Amino acid sequence: MIIFKSKIKFKSHLQEVKNQQQSIGFVPTMGALHKGHISLIEKAKTECDVVIASIFVNPTQFNNLSDLDKYPRTFEQDCEILIKAGCDILFAPEISEMYSKEEIELKQQNIEDKSWAKGKTVDFGSLANVMEGLRRPGHFNGVVQIVSKLFRVVEPNRAYFGQKDFQQLMIIKKMAQQLEMPIEIVACPIVRDQNGLAMSSRNKRLSLDEKEKAALISKTLFNIKALQNEKSISELKAIAIQQLKAGDQFEVEYFEISDIETLQPVTSPNSTQQLIVCVALRLGEVRLIDNIILSPIKQAV
Ligand code: PAF
Repeated sequence: MIIFKSKIKFKSHLQEVKNQQQSIGFVPTMGALHKGHISLIEKAKTECDVVIASIFVNPTQFNNLSDLDKYPRTFEQDCEILIKAGCDILFAPEISEMYSKEEIELKQQNIEDKSWAKGKTVDFGSLANVMEGLRRPGHFNGVVQIVSKLFRVVEPNRAYFGQKDFQQLMIIKKMAQQLEMPIEIVACPIVRDQNGLAMSSRNKRLSLDEKEKAALISKTLFNIKALQNEKSISELKAIAIQQLKAGDQFEVEYFEISDIETLQPVTSPNSTQQLIVCVALRLGEVRLIDNIILSPIKQAV
């Protein structure tokens, strides 16, 4: 695996790849890699000639500085994981390679910098105003800021994202579409550990005891999926909240049953509507999110 820290050297190498008409699969990450990331690399390998990963802990998507400080950084281990998974190239820039001083200053002043849209109007509609968008002001702007920059550097044919961050995935799809970037955004299924906990870099901050407790999150989601045709949406929500309350250390931020396209909460779905159940909660100091896609509800209840 070739590792680039410099954008200029990386771009000139990329030019050679492109001159050879090789297709590029891109997996952007913030490091602290786990089996979920490996599944993205593996999927990219089956569909592209060259697989590129990036590791960049993006300061503009954190709305809480202590979260940024505490974000796990495991570069050496990450490199080993990427090599094993068959990644060809790693781009791991310093902050100064990706952001100007002015951009960092805007972030420090909590001003949303929309220059990533390059003058185009990008409208996320209702997608960014619910769930993570509501609770983490500026978060998605920071995500599209860095992902658009990375897309402009790498210009991949396909880019791979995990469905655990489902709202992020939808927003990135919309961004690529509205900026007319010819990149296929590939959604990859959530990878879970043996007890059902969705893989996340944040899990590294959980104690063993907390990890065991966190299994209740996916258990609740699977239970809701099992009951989806027997109960109304409000009953399903009540059951889930009750179940999650049993995990007395959980502080539930939201539990939503939403339309999969608009991510707006649904109260009485029609029989063709595809729904997604999304949850965010705190366990000790760690904020966890998870989701499950429901089959279309058989009978409107
Ligand atoms: O999902 C992540 O790890 C990050 O939000 C991403 C997409 C790499 C942007 O920093």
